[in-house]
Amino acid sequence: MPEKDDKDAKDFHVGVPMRCEPFFLRGSNSLDWGLKNRLAKIFNPESGRTVMLAIDHGYFQGPTTGLERVDVNIVPLLRFSDTLMCTRGILRSTIPPTYGKGIVLRMSGGPSVLKELSNEQLACDIEDALRLNVAAMAVQVFIGGEHETQSVHNMTRLVDVGQRYGIATLGVTAVGREMVRDAKYMRLACRICAELGASYVKTYYVPEGFETVTASCPVPIVIAGGKKLEELEALKMAYDAIQAGAAGVDMGRNIFQSEAPLAMIQAVRKVVHEGERPDRAFDYYLTLRNQKKSA
Ligand code: R5P
Repeated sequence: MPEKDDKDAKDFHVGVPMRCEPFFLRGSNSLDWGLKNRLAKIFNPESGRTVMLAIDHGYFQGPTTGLERVDVNIVPLLRFSDTLMCTRGILRSTIPPTYGKGIVLRMSGGPSVLKELSNEQLACDIEDALRLNVAAMAVQVFIGGEHETQSVHNMTRLVDVGQRYGIATLGVTAVGREMVRDAKYMRLACRICAELGASYVKTYYVPEGFETVTASCPVPIVIAGGKKLEELEALKMAYDAIQAGAAGVDMGRNIFQSEAPLAMIQAVRKVVHEGERPDRAFDYYLTLRNQKKSA
């Protein structure tokens, strides 16, 4: 039996309007509570941005450079990521279940790097995503690719089941070798993903007109790192993307193939969450790298 509560001095704050704060992420205010809660495990509510560590490359590339041993090379980086993008195989076998941040699960697959990459299908069931307690499901969308429609339908099927259970969907715009990487193409691909229900979109940074890509996409955009660059160049790309409206990075090779991955991920955090300028973030990278060398 609950204790009788007969205090007279209750304060009901009569006349104080009920607090109702808008959700911090672009285009996400009308989502359900569970979806917002999961997105808040991907994007930092204070900065509104994310450093996603992407290590899902093995799903079509096998043990690519830097990912030969995820337990050795990646697990030490996890504490500096806001979220981890990976496959269920790596998650179950290698990622400590004590990792308390959002998991973005790779849900599509099929062809290896030896075949036509756009010929993907869904490669994981929503039940397994729920069992793994993921925050978002990632699916490749090949706009203009040979299997464009199939890949779009992979995404829309995930959006439907994701809405049912409150799990976000990340539309990953995949640019085929024959396609031009320019703002016009990125606007097309990102907008299609958002219109068809992606909670957020991953795309590539283009130096000319990237602000038009973010402006015309009604949900948050994060940029992939792409192929390995010099550290200063990668930090500059992240900075320019953030200045042009990106809500963060989904970065893989430019972190795990860096000479000093631990230093690099921390420098990327400075740029993404604090808006640190690339030259200063690079100095920070060098300081951390040199400390490690002399330890
Ligand atoms: C592509 O294989 C994956 O979706 C990666 O997660 C994505 O390309 C980001 O990794 P990176 O920064 O290495 O391009």
